[in-house]
Amino acid sequence: MIARRLPAAGLEELRRDFDVDEGDLSADRAKLAERVRGASALVADPTVPVDAELLDAAGPSLRVVANFAVGYDNVDRDACRARGVTVTNTPDVLTNATAELAVTLMLAAARRLGEAERLLRAGRWQGWDPGELLGRELSHSVIGIVGLGRIGERVAELLRGFAPEGEDSPRMLYTARSERPRAEERLGLRRLALEDLVAQADVVTLHVPLGPETHHLVDASLLGRFKPGSILVNTSRGGLVDTQALVGALRSGRLAAAALDVFEHEPSVEPELLALENVVLVPHIGSATGRARDAMARLVAQNVKAVLAGAEPPTPVVR
Ligand code: 8YV
Repeated sequence: MIARRLPAAGLEELRRDFDVDEGDLSADRAKLAERVRGASALVADPTVPVDAELLDAAGPSLRVVANFAVGYDNVDRDACRARGVTVTNTPDVLTNATAELAVTLMLAAARRLGEAERLLRAGRWQGWDPGELLGRELSHSVIGIVGLGRIGERVAELLRGFAPEGEDSPRMLYTARSERPRAEERLGLRRLALEDLVAQADVVTLHVPLGPETHHLVDASLLGRFKPGSILVNTSRGGLVDTQALVGALRSGRLAAAALDVFEHEPSVEPELLALENVVLVPHIGSATGRARDAMARLVAQNVKAVLAGAEPPTPVVR
Protein backbone atom coordinates (compact mmCIF):
# COMPACT_ATOMS: atom_id res chain seq x y z
CA MET A 1 0.00 0.00 0.00
CA ILE A 2 1.50 3.30 -1.08
CA ALA A 3 0.15 5.94 1.30
CA ARG A 4 0.48 8.78 -1.23
CA ARG A 5 2.51 8.74 -4.44
CA LEU A 6 5.64 6.93 -5.65
CA PRO A 7 7.46 7.92 -8.87
CA ALA A 8 7.08 5.42 -11.73
CA ALA A 9 10.73 4.33 -11.45
CA GLY A 10 9.76 2.48 -8.24
CA LEU A 11 6.06 1.97 -8.79
CA GLU A 12 6.52 -0.05 -11.99
CA GLU A 13 9.09 -2.27 -10.26
CA LEU A 14 6.61 -3.02 -7.44
CA ARG A 15 3.69 -3.52 -9.81
CA ARG A 16 5.65 -6.26 -11.60
CA ASP A 17 5.67 -8.46 -8.46
CA PHE A 18 2.85 -7.22 -6.22
CA ASP A 19 -0.75 -6.05 -6.10
CA VAL A 20 -0.15 -2.34 -5.50
CA ASP A 21 -2.69 0.12 -4.08
CA GLU A 22 -1.38 3.62 -4.81
CA GLY A 23 -2.97 6.59 -3.03
CA ASP A 24 -3.21 10.26 -3.91
CA LEU A 25 -1.61 13.36 -2.40
CA SER A 26 -4.13 13.66 0.39
CA ALA A 27 -3.07 11.59 3.41
CA ASP A 28 -6.52 11.27 4.98
CA ARG A 29 -5.99 9.22 8.17
CA ALA A 30 -9.28 7.30 8.08
CA LYS A 31 -8.78 6.37 4.41
CA LEU A 32 -5.16 5.31 5.12
CA ALA A 33 -6.30 3.09 8.01
CA GLU A 34 -8.87 1.53 5.70
CA ARG A 35 -6.50 1.02 2.80
CA VAL A 36 -3.61 -0.39 4.85
CA ARG A 37 -5.71 -3.29 6.24
CA GLY A 38 -4.03 -6.59 5.35
CA ALA A 39 -1.09 -4.96 3.54
CA SER A 40 2.33 -6.65 3.56
CA ALA A 41 4.17 -3.38 2.90
CA LEU A 42 3.45 0.30 3.55
CA VAL A 43 5.24 2.99 1.54
CA ALA A 44 5.17 6.25 3.50
CA ASP A 45 6.83 9.69 3.30
CA PRO A 46 7.54 12.57 5.71
CA THR A 47 3.91 13.76 5.49
CA VAL A 48 2.54 10.38 6.67
CA PRO A 49 2.73 9.73 10.44
CA VAL A 50 3.27 5.97 10.89
CA ASP A 51 2.20 5.24 14.47
CA ALA A 52 0.82 2.34 16.52
CA GLU A 53 -2.72 3.11 15.38
CA LEU A 54 -1.83 2.81 11.69
CA LEU A 55 0.32 -0.28 12.29
CA ASP A 56 -2.56 -1.96 14.15
CA ALA A 57 -4.95 -1.01 11.35
CA ALA A 58 -2.63 -2.89 8.96
CA GLY A 59 -2.54 -5.93 11.23
CA PRO A 60 -0.06 -8.82 11.52
CA SER A 61 0.39 -9.07 7.73
CA LEU A 62 2.52 -5.91 7.70
CA ARG A 63 6.24 -6.72 7.36
CA VAL A 64 7.83 -3.48 6.22
CA VAL A 65 7.39 0.30 6.31
CA ALA A 66 9.46 1.78 3.47
CA ASN A 67 9.86 5.55 3.92
CA PHE A 68 10.28 7.61 0.72
CA ALA A 69 12.80 9.81 2.51
CA VAL A 70 16.18 9.73 4.26
CA GLY A 71 14.54 11.24 7.34
CA TYR A 72 12.22 8.98 9.35
CA ASP A 73 10.95 11.22 12.16
CA ASN A 74 7.43 10.48 10.83
CA VAL A 75 7.80 6.80 11.79
CA ASP A 76 7.34 5.47 15.35
CA ARG A 77 10.29 3.10 15.30
CA ASP A 78 9.56 1.58 18.71
CA ALA A 79 6.01 0.72 17.62
CA CYS A 80 7.42 -0.93 14.48
CA ARG A 81 10.11 -2.79 16.42
CA ALA A 82 7.48 -4.06 18.89
CA ARG A 83 5.48 -5.51 15.99
CA GLY A 84 8.47 -7.00 14.17
CA VAL A 85 7.96 -4.56 11.30
CA THR A 86 11.10 -3.56 9.37
CA VAL A 87 11.60 0.14 8.59
CA THR A 88 13.71 1.39 5.67
CA ASN A 89 14.68 4.81 4.28
CA THR A 90 16.37 6.29 1.17
CA PRO A 91 19.83 7.64 2.12
CA ASP A 92 22.71 8.56 -0.23
CA VAL A 93 20.67 8.89 -3.44
CA LEU A 94 19.42 12.38 -2.43
CA THR A 95 22.56 13.60 -0.68
CA ASN A 96 23.86 15.72 -3.55
CA ALA A 97 20.45 17.14 -4.48
CA THR A 98 19.77 18.25 -0.91
CA ALA A 99 23.30 19.63 -0.42
CA GLU A 100 23.03 21.62 -3.64
CA LEU A 101 19.75 23.14 -2.43
CA ALA A 102 21.40 24.08 0.89
CA VAL A 103 24.17 25.94 -0.99
CA THR A 104 21.56 27.50 -3.27
CA LEU A 105 19.65 28.79 -0.25
CA MET A 106 22.86 30.12 1.33
CA LEU A 107 23.55 32.12 -1.83
CA ALA A 108 19.92 33.24 -2.19
CA ALA A 109 19.88 34.56 1.39
CA ALA A 110 23.41 36.01 1.26
CA ARG A 111 22.70 37.90 -2.00
CA ARG A 112 19.08 38.74 -1.07
CA LEU A 113 17.75 37.08 -4.22
CA GLY A 114 14.11 36.93 -3.09
CA GLU A 115 14.03 40.62 -2.15
CA ALA A 116 15.75 41.61 -5.40
CA GLU A 117 13.37 39.61 -7.58
CA ARG A 118 10.28 40.82 -5.73
CA LEU A 119 11.46 44.45 -6.05
CA LEU A 120 11.99 44.10 -9.80
CA ARG A 121 8.78 42.15 -10.48
CA ALA A 122 6.78 44.73 -8.49
CA GLY A 123 8.10 47.45 -10.81
CA ARG A 124 9.88 49.18 -7.90
CA TRP A 125 13.36 49.15 -9.48
CA GLN A 126 14.39 52.78 -10.02
CA GLY A 127 17.66 51.92 -11.72
CA TRP A 128 21.15 51.20 -10.43
CA ASP A 129 21.83 52.38 -6.83
CA PRO A 130 25.32 51.68 -5.32
CA GLY A 131 23.86 51.08 -1.86
CA GLU A 132 20.89 48.93 -2.81
CA LEU A 133 20.45 45.24 -1.82
CA LEU A 134 24.01 44.83 -0.63
CA GLY A 135 24.69 41.23 0.38
CA ARG A 136 27.64 39.13 1.46
CA GLU A 137 30.01 36.72 -0.36
CA LEU A 138 30.15 33.10 0.77
CA SER A 139 33.83 33.03 -0.13
CA HIS A 140 34.48 35.65 2.56
CA SER A 141 32.13 34.15 5.13
CA VAL A 142 32.63 31.66 7.96
CA ILE A 143 30.29 28.71 7.31
CA GLY A 144 28.96 26.65 10.23
CA ILE A 145 27.72 23.14 9.39
CA VAL A 146 25.54 21.68 12.15
CA GLY A 147 25.78 17.91 11.72
CA LEU A 148 28.44 16.32 9.50
CA GLY A 149 26.51 13.39 8.13
CA ARG A 150 26.32 12.58 4.40
CA ILE A 151 24.50 15.80 3.45
CA GLY A 152 26.53 18.06 5.77
CA GLU A 153 29.78 16.64 4.41
CA ARG A 154 28.59 17.07 0.81
CA VAL A 155 27.78 20.72 1.57
CA ALA A 156 31.37 21.19 2.76
CA GLU A 157 32.67 19.56 -0.42
CA LEU A 158 30.52 21.83 -2.61
CA LEU A 159 31.61 24.92 -0.68
CA ARG A 160 35.30 24.27 -1.40
CA GLY A 161 34.61 25.98 -4.73
CA PHE A 162 33.97 29.19 -2.78
CA ALA A 163 37.55 29.43 -1.61
CA PRO A 164 38.81 33.03 -1.35
CA GLU A 165 41.93 33.85 -3.43
CA GLY A 166 44.93 31.85 -2.23
CA GLU A 167 42.92 29.59 0.10
CA ASP A 168 41.70 25.97 -0.31
CA SER A 169 38.21 26.67 1.00
CA PRO A 170 36.16 29.24 2.89
CA ARG A 171 36.53 28.97 6.67
CA MET A 172 34.26 26.05 7.61
CA LEU A 173 33.27 24.94 11.10
CA TYR A 174 31.20 21.92 12.05
CA THR A 175 29.49 20.23 14.95
CA ALA A 176 29.17 16.46 15.22
CA ARG A 177 28.73 13.91 17.99
CA SER A 178 32.24 12.61 17.32
CA GLU A 179 35.42 14.10 15.81
CA ARG A 180 35.87 13.53 12.05
CA PRO A 181 39.66 13.86 11.58
CA ARG A 182 39.67 12.61 7.97
CA ALA A 183 36.91 15.06 6.92
CA GLU A 184 38.71 17.82 8.83
CA GLU A 185 41.93 17.04 6.93
CA ARG A 186 40.26 16.61 3.55
CA LEU A 187 37.90 19.60 3.75
CA GLY A 188 39.72 22.01 6.03
CA LEU A 189 36.98 21.78 8.68
CA ARG A 190 37.25 22.69 12.36
CA ARG A 191 35.01 21.13 15.01
CA LEU A 192 33.36 23.32 17.65
CA ALA A 193 30.59 23.04 20.20
CA LEU A 194 27.28 24.37 18.83
CA GLU A 195 27.30 27.49 21.02
CA ASP A 196 30.81 28.42 19.81
CA LEU A 197 30.03 27.61 16.17
CA VAL A 198 26.99 29.94 16.03
CA ALA A 199 29.02 32.70 17.74
CA GLN A 200 31.65 32.57 14.98
CA ALA A 201 29.70 31.61 11.84
CA ASP A 202 28.33 34.11 9.32
CA VAL A 203 26.17 31.36 7.79
CA VAL A 204 24.77 28.43 9.82
CA THR A 205 23.29 25.43 7.95
CA LEU A 206 21.39 22.62 9.71
CA HIS A 207 22.02 18.96 8.79
CA VAL A 208 20.91 16.94 11.81
CA PRO A 209 17.87 14.64 11.96
CA LEU A 210 14.79 15.66 13.96
CA GLY A 211 14.25 13.74 17.17
CA PRO A 212 13.42 14.42 20.86
CA GLU A 213 17.04 15.54 21.44
CA THR A 214 17.10 17.99 18.49
CA HIS A 215 13.58 19.44 18.67
CA HIS A 216 13.93 23.26 18.83
CA LEU A 217 17.72 22.89 18.83
CA VAL A 218 17.69 26.46 17.52
CA ASP A 219 15.67 28.31 20.16
CA ALA A 220 15.69 31.86 21.55
CA SER A 221 18.65 31.13 23.82
CA LEU A 222 20.83 29.76 21.00
CA LEU A 223 19.68 32.48 18.60
CA GLY A 224 20.88 34.97 21.21
CA ARG A 225 24.39 33.57 20.71
CA PHE A 226 24.36 33.84 16.89
CA LYS A 227 26.87 36.29 15.41
CA PRO A 228 24.99 39.57 14.75
CA GLY A 229 24.05 39.79 11.06
CA SER A 230 24.43 36.06 10.42
CA ILE A 231 22.25 33.83 8.23
CA LEU A 232 20.40 30.58 9.11
CA VAL A 233 19.66 27.89 6.49
CA ASN A 234 17.43 24.85 7.18
CA THR A 235 17.00 21.99 4.67
CA SER A 236 16.58 19.31 7.35
CA ARG A 237 13.35 19.51 9.41
CA GLY A 238 11.27 22.50 10.55
CA GLY A 239 11.03 21.15 14.09
CA LEU A 240 14.74 21.87 14.62
CA VAL A 241 13.94 25.58 14.84
CA ASP A 242 11.61 27.43 17.21
CA THR A 243 9.85 29.45 14.51
CA GLN A 244 8.57 32.27 16.72
CA ALA A 245 12.07 32.72 18.18
CA LEU A 246 13.46 32.81 14.64
CA VAL A 247 10.90 35.45 13.63
CA GLY A 248 12.02 37.53 16.61
CA ALA A 249 15.70 37.24 15.65
CA LEU A 250 14.95 38.23 12.04
CA ARG A 251 12.83 41.21 13.09
CA SER A 252 15.49 42.41 15.57
CA GLY A 253 18.30 42.08 13.03
CA ARG A 254 20.21 39.60 15.18
CA LEU A 255 19.94 37.51 12.04
CA ALA A 256 20.36 39.33 8.74
CA ALA A 257 18.38 36.61 6.94
CA ALA A 258 17.20 33.02 6.86
CA ALA A 259 16.44 30.52 4.08
CA LEU A 260 14.05 27.67 4.83
CA ASP A 261 13.03 24.55 2.88
CA VAL A 262 11.24 22.95 5.82
CA PHE A 263 8.67 24.16 8.36
CA GLU A 264 7.25 22.98 11.71
CA HIS A 265 3.68 22.41 10.46
CA GLU A 266 4.09 21.68 6.74
CA PRO A 267 2.49 22.52 4.46
CA SER A 268 1.30 25.49 6.47
CA VAL A 269 3.89 28.26 6.87
CA GLU A 270 3.70 30.77 9.73
CA PRO A 271 2.22 34.10 8.51
CA GLU A 272 4.93 35.90 10.52
CA LEU A 273 7.54 34.24 8.28
CA LEU A 274 5.61 35.01 5.09
CA ALA A 275 5.49 38.69 6.10
CA LEU A 276 9.29 39.03 6.43
CA GLU A 277 11.39 40.38 3.53
CA ASN A 278 14.69 38.89 4.74
CA VAL A 279 13.58 35.23 4.50
CA VAL A 280 13.83 32.89 1.51
CA LEU A 281 11.04 30.30 1.65
CA VAL A 282 10.73 27.20 -0.57
CA PRO A 283 8.31 24.22 -0.24
CA HIS A 284 10.43 21.24 0.88
CA ILE A 285 12.22 20.71 -2.43
CA GLY A 286 15.53 19.42 -1.03
CA SER A 287 15.45 16.20 -2.98
CA ALA A 288 13.32 17.52 -5.82
CA THR A 289 15.40 16.46 -8.80
CA GLY A 290 14.32 13.82 -11.31
CA ARG A 291 17.55 11.93 -10.67
CA ALA A 292 17.16 11.88 -6.88
CA ARG A 293 13.44 11.11 -6.73
CA ASP A 294 13.69 8.26 -9.24
CA ALA A 295 16.60 6.78 -7.30
CA MET A 296 14.62 7.16 -4.04
CA ALA A 297 11.66 5.36 -5.64
CA ARG A 298 13.86 2.51 -6.89
CA LEU A 299 15.41 2.16 -3.42
CA VAL A 300 11.92 1.96 -1.87
CA ALA A 301 11.06 -0.84 -4.31
CA GLN A 302 14.29 -2.72 -3.60
CA ASN A 303 13.72 -2.45 0.17
CA VAL A 304 10.13 -3.76 -0.09
CA LYS A 305 11.07 -6.61 -2.43
CA ALA A 306 13.99 -7.69 -0.23
CA VAL A 307 11.96 -7.80 3.00
CA LEU A 308 9.02 -9.60 1.42
CA ALA A 309 11.46 -12.14 -0.07
CA GLY A 310 12.92 -12.69 3.41
CA ALA A 311 16.23 -11.08 2.39
CA GLU A 312 18.24 -8.20 3.94
CA PRO A 313 16.97 -4.79 2.67
CA PRO A 314 19.62 -2.39 1.25
CA THR A 315 18.87 0.49 3.66
CA PRO A 316 17.29 -0.67 6.93
CA VAL A 317 16.56 1.67 9.84
CA VAL A 318 14.73 -0.88 12.05
CA ARG A 319 15.32 -4.59 11.40
C1 8YV B 1 11.27 14.08 1.18
C2 8YV B 1 13.02 14.50 2.75
O1 8YV B 1 11.32 12.75 1.40
O2 8YV B 1 14.33 12.62 2.35
C3 8YV B 1 13.85 13.37 3.20
O3 8YV B 1 14.02 13.21 4.43
O4 8YV B 1 12.59 15.26 3.53
C4 8YV B 1 12.66 14.65 1.34
O5 8YV B 1 13.54 14.00 0.49
C5 8YV B 1 10.77 14.28 -0.17
O6 8YV B 1 10.64 15.63 -0.30
C6 8YV B 1 9.48 13.54 -0.42
O7 8YV B 1 8.46 14.03 0.33
